[in-house]
Amino acid sequence: MSDDRFISVQNISKHFGAVRAVDDVCFDIRRNEFFSLLGPSGCGKTTLMRMIAGFEEATSGDVHIDGQPMGHTPPHERPVNMVFQNYAIFPHLTVQQNIAFGLRKEKLAKKELNRRVEEALEMIKLPGYGPRAAHQLSGGQRQRIALARALIKKPKVLLLDEPLGALDKKLREQMQLELRALQKSIGITFIFVTHDQEEAMTMSDRIAVMSEGKALEVGPPAQLYERPTSHFVADFLGSMNFFDGRVLKAEPGMALVETRELGHVRVLSDNAGVVPGRDVIVAIRPENIAVSTQKPKGDINSVKGRVDTAAFLGDRSNIYVMVNDGRDTVLTVMQNLGGAASRIGAQSDDIWLSWNDKAGILLPATAR
Ligand SMILES: Nc1ncnc2c1ncn2[C@@H]1O[C@H](COP(=O)(O)OP(=O)(O)O)[C@@H](O)[C@H]1O
Ligand SMILES: [Mg+2]
Repeated sequence: MSDDRFISVQNISKHFGAVRAVDDVCFDIRRNEFFSLLGPSGCGKTTLMRMIAGFEEATSGDVHIDGQPMGHTPPHERPVNMVFQNYAIFPHLTVQQNIAFGLRKEKLAKKELNRRVEEALEMIKLPGYGPRAAHQLSGGQRQRIALARALIKKPKVLLLDEPLGALDKKLREQMQLELRALQKSIGITFIFVTHDQEEAMTMSDRIAVMSEGKALEVGPPAQLYERPTSHFVADFLGSMNFFDGRVLKAEPGMALVETRELGHVRVLSDNAGVVPGRDVIVAIRPENIAVSTQKPKGDINSVKGRVDTAAFLGDRSNIYVMVNDGRDTVLTVMQNLGGAASRIGAQSDDIWLSWNDKAGILLPATAR
């Protein structure tokens, strides 16, 4: 059994009547990987997770864990444990009793049990909290206890379904870094569900982006962000400008595309299917478009425009620029170094947008 295919999701589907909650999903998860399922609400993340855990029976397909097909294996016989968003902490019990609940079936001697609980409390950075009443804890602490209760059973795989969803932003960001560090230090495979793209990118080794029951793309965060291959993923991660275009010229590694908004654009292309006459979408990240008051020199893609609006965000500004005689808008983002972004934002004369050949991403027009 290779560590690259520690968990193998094989053509798994789940239909609820006419709803294809999960639709023929395939991917492999590596041993000790932090793997996230990312997608909007209703795209099938929880259903897929529940099938991996054994709480939901697949309509077709199967999951293999550590080389074993799971088939009808009930949840408690799978080497997985699950932490839910609405962490089921018992408020009338102590922290110690809540965590020990995870081991109730193992009939451990009291001394060993206490040792395991304390070990788990140290992992979640709440040493000595055992005697406290659970209802006295903050939301963040309660979520840590839920985590400890799952970790104490030493599962090979921990499934976390939007575990930070109930926490406020600051605490959530802190817990993201802690969870990631914890996962790396204990060496358990994590499958993490979230609808928050920044959360997924912060924490994950790899992400599966889901939409309408399908896993559209699987890869490391930077790859999905920089080289998406579908309109949905390009749009879902970060901000993106999309331009409809038609291929004029296709050379090895490079295509010349005619767009309404930007005129002619040179785009990197490693796609053999890109041929003259083909309708395509050119996608460009706002941060890859430079703004200048002078026409850029040299052989670079550029277009003339005027500032429409500028949203000042402190460290940077989102600058919306009208192009094509005011008929279209392009979003750029500019770092506010020494007030540069505020000066450009206040500019009323013509400005220039420019970007290099590597900035454009060529997507199939049918992917929209
Ligand atoms: N038990 C169920 N019965 C019927 N439809 C369900 C059931 N569970 C989920 N669904 C539907 O399946 C789809 C995916 O749901 P879910 O997996 O909860 O998505 P997510 O976790 O990504 O928000 C949704 O359309 C949801 O309404
Ligand atoms: Mg869900």
